[in-house]
Amino acid sequence: MRADPIDRPADLDAVRASYDRVADAYVRLVVDTGIGDPRCRPWLKAALDAFAESVAGIGPVLDVGCGPGRVTAYLAERGLDVAGVDLSPRMIDNARRLHPSCRFEVGSATDLDLADASLGGVLGWWSLFNLPRHVLPQVLASFARALMPGGCFITGTHTGEEDVRRTEAYGGPVEWTTHQWSPEKYVGLIEQAGLRPVAELRLPADEHVGPGLVVMAVRD
Ligand SMILES: C[S@@+](CC[C@H](N)C(=O)[O-])C[C@H]1O[C@@H](n2cnc3c(N)ncnc32)[C@H](O)[C@@H]1O
Repeated sequence: MRADPIDRPADLDAVRASYDRVADAYVRLVVDTGIGDPRCRPWLKAALDAFAESVAGIGPVLDVGCGPGRVTAYLAERGLDVAGVDLSPRMIDNARRLHPSCRFEVGSATDLDLADASLGGVLGWWSLFNLPRHVLPQVLASFARALMPGGCFITGTHTGEEDVRRTEAYGGPVEWTTHQWSPEKYVGLIEQAGLRPVAELRLPADEHVGPGLVVMAVRD
């Protein structure tokens, strides 16, 4: 029996167009500053290394909202069978150019048609914060269903309590909302989706980005 379809976010087209507009600038920022690059951020690297070790040999891994594919490529280098998917075609153009040996597709987290128990791992690495608050639990439930027993979900997101309306990001005009989550509520959603959190990493704000949270959870 197929799961119910996930509600389509009302602003999905605007979010896609926004990331398309700023994709090239985002790539330049990433390359110039190393912002968020696991190799430059020891705690993020440690979390991704623990994820890679945990899912090795379980099954294929999907990096949902992979952007230009830095993390996808990092995990591929660690021997995972990993692919990336992103809402923005321009992000995927960049990912394919920068990491030609990796597999990338265009698609929305809300419309992935994931088969039950088909994945060893799923990432939502700073890519789920644009999902409306009522849509995120549906997406998390689809990830939980798609994981094989023992498979892992890892996610990073912006923490806080606000819905921040953005009109500018990465030096360009955008039209999206950053839905911040308190760590407690975010972890609660992951549990309600049927996953068991095994690690939480809180990240204070730095000169580039506000406070964040990384959570890893297992499908028992
Ligand atoms: C801040 S970037 C992070 C990209 C990448 N995970 C990284 O760490 O570099 C957010 C990404 O999420 C993607 N995104 C936003 N909403 C999405 C959705 N509904 N489905 C898939 N990707 C989405 C955007 O296109 C963008 O590439």
